[in-house]
Amino acid sequence: MARCRKCRQKKADVFIPHHRLPLCKEHFLEWFEEYLARTIKKFKMFSPEARILVAISGGKDSLVLWKALDNLGYHTEGLFVDLGIEDFSLISRRVAENFAEEIKRPLHVVSIKKESGLTIPDLKSRTKKYCSLCGSIKRYFFNRFARQNNFDVLVTGHNLDDEASSLLSNTINWQLKYLARKYPVLPEGNGFVRKAKPLCRFTAFEIKEYARLQKIEYLTERCPLSPEATRLVYAELMDELEEKMPGTKIRFYMDYLRKVYPIFNRQVEDFLDRPLTQCETCGEPAVSSPCFVCKLKAEAKG
Ligand code: FES
Ligand code: ZN
Ligand code: ZN
Repeated sequence: MARCRKCRQKKADVFIPHHRLPLCKEHFLEWFEEYLARTIKKFKMFSPEARILVAISGGKDSLVLWKALDNLGYHTEGLFVDLGIEDFSLISRRVAENFAEEIKRPLHVVSIKKESGLTIPDLKSRTKKYCSLCGSIKRYFFNRFARQNNFDVLVTGHNLDDEASSLLSNTINWQLKYLARKYPVLPEGNGFVRKAKPLCRFTAFEIKEYARLQKIEYLTERCPLSPEATRLVYAELMDELEEKMPGTKIRFYMDYLRKVYPIFNRQVEDFLDRPLTQCETCGEPAVSSPCFVCKLKAEAKG
């Protein structure tokens, strides 16, 4: 491999295709953290003093995000939502806890079994929509925890691959509601905390390389319950385009944010067909009252 572009002395450890950048270990890690800091600034995600809650799954993205933010000197704490998916939840939780210990930052755990009386496998036996319900449940508990504990922002590990493939899927299916909210930072309000995706300009490859060089042990298994079939089709399509035309993902995503998002966003109210209300039972923002979590709780009891 070529020499590092920065120091021109050491052999490059990583080659970043869409930046055409060969870098040694030290300068790759430096590049990664600087690019993260620039992304946070560019999108005005949060201030240097912000109290940040990192949504932790135990996978590479959330752990890399936590490590890099911590290295940049941000005040971070993690939250793991235990979904009760037997071994998978146990192992992910252990990975998350070991990592938190290593970087000496607090990790909070919310168990949906304790909170609602149900686990995701229980939901699976009741409804086919358990996987999207699972996503909503996670968002509910992350948001509630962040707000009740006065965090300024909730950050998630969504990367460029995730954002570009979901953008493709939202566009092909003209899901205007999702497009109108597809921005790497969403402001607080109406019971929602501020949300940000600081890794939105990093590819899965760059994140894996950061994890490898920082010796981060993360969970590689995917959730055994998640069907994901259609999501994968879009991800594979995007990968194919990227291979044939390097830089497609970042161009597609960044051009959307620059050229198209402002148009959608200006009319966001029109796209939100159901205005939000507040759940009378738990007080969380909801499309109707009681909210879906309170309904699940009632079902579990009954
Ligand atoms: Fe939600 Fe698997 S993580 S269904
Ligand atoms: Zn170097
Ligand atoms: Zn509720």
